[in-house]
Amino acid sequence: MSAEDVLPIVQCGDPVLRRPAQPVDPAVLRTGALRRLIAQMRATMEAAPGVGLAAPQVGVGIQLAVVQDGPERWEHLTEEERAARERTALPFTVLANPVVTPAAGDGMVGFYEGCLSVPGLTALVARHRAVRVRALDEHGEPIDQVLSGWPARIVQHEADHLGGRLYLDRAETRSLSTADTYARLWAGRPPADAAAALGFTL
Ligand code: NI
Repeated sequence: MSAEDVLPIVQCGDPVLRRPAQPVDPAVLRTGALRRLIAQMRATMEAAPGVGLAAPQVGVGIQLAVVQDGPERWEHLTEEERAARERTALPFTVLANPVVTPAAGDGMVGFYEGCLSVPGLTALVARHRAVRVRALDEHGEPIDQVLSGWPARIVQHEADHLGGRLYLDRAETRSLSTADTYARLWAGRPPADAAAALGFTL
């Protein structure tokens, strides 16, 4: 991985972020033809830094995403905030053709989210607390996992990208904050405080 692997991130307003991405042919994964793109996506995600990146965000309209989370990404959170988000380590994973379905009976949970394609903004999004993820990995091998907490949020966000959706489509728009305002007023406070002050329901 090197600096030249880091690609520019497509910003909202570009139609590539709004088109459903095309499925990846499993044979293409098995031949390694996407290895360089995957390395570039990983380098781009790490440089940003972010916890997930979908191929349309680097201008490639295929159903491919990379995800990764760990302590180096959540060091700005207090232990209490990390626990509230159920932010647990998610090893680097390639997801091709992911199908994300709610895990039965586990409800929705709302937290602030951002997106590398929508810089400088954050808004509260209700997501399934737990999901089942079926996909292919970088070798074309099947993945079938149940994720909960923040890892579940990450894969829902990335699967949305592959469907041409942005988190803003699902956001509580009255919660929309610039990153600066969020840091000044709402970081470290329960979402209920923002809901009461800004006039939305959780
Ligand atoms: Ni995003």
